Amino acid sequence: MTEAEQLARQEKRQEKKQRKAAAIRALKGTRRIAALTAYDFPTARLLDEAGVDLLLVGDSLGMVVLGFPDTTAVTMEHMLHHTAAVARAKPAALVLADLPIRSYNNPDDALANARRLVAAGADAVKLEGGLRQAEKVRAIVDAGIPVCGHLGMLPQRVLEEGGYRKKGKTPEQAAALQEGAEALVEAGVFAIILESVVASVAEKFTRATPVPVIGIGSGETTCDGEVAVVTDLVGSYPWFVPPFATPEADVAAEIQKAARAYIGRVQQT
Ligand code: KIV
Repeated sequence: MTEAEQLARQEKRQEKKQRKAAAIRALKGTRRIAALTAYDFPTARLLDEAGVDLLLVGDSLGMVVLGFPDTTAVTMEHMLHHTAAVARAKPAALVLADLPIRSYNNPDDALANARRLVAAGADAVKLEGGLRQAEKVRAIVDAGIPVCGHLGMLPQRVLEEGGYRKKGKTPEQAAALQEGAEALVEAGVFAIILESVVASVAEKFTRATPVPVIGIGSGETTCDGEVAVVTDLVGSYPWFVPPFATPEADVAAEIQKAARAYIGRVQQT
């Protein structure tokens, strides 16, 4: 393939990613968005075949896949490995990959690492924070890579904040959220994830924000859609289930049932 052909192919791929992000953006005010995390090929394929709109390769994988206590140990190498696995399922859903902590300390790092995630198969990237991230969002968006914001409770700041704290509890916090959203929208995000925000504040925030707001732990019907951690949904990580999660299956029990049946069968023969 010539260099020109390679470039044309790359541009086509980039346009497809932008179309997917624009399609999510266009859902605002039409129907609610159903998003789930996915960290591996089979889960991505199953969720995509079920019709999910967006697959988030979240840095929550640090906890529910890699066994770390929080997301602060997650590296770019972890994210590239799992993003590539999800992308191998060739999902119709938009593949959104998290920029992990310390991978976007400045606009140059943010763009370089966003490009690495896209090369691994992500359609778009997500980073945590509002006003102070606007310049980095702009750098990534200007390079043609769609960006999703993340406001409210920010898991990458769990150590600084001394725990996971609900946001939007005071008028000042609510105003700061809105200010953050305005900066992110101005910088070009196609959607915002809103985590652990008081439901009434999340509802107001969603109405005031021109891009889709995808909620988690922010009230059940307050936002333009919901994102859930897949292990919370299917019940495969029983050691910690957030209070707002609504499990639809008990995969942990099924795995143990199958394992016990297998152990019994093998040991008896
Ligand atoms: O990493 C993740 O799974 C997330 C969700 C909690 C929104 O960011």
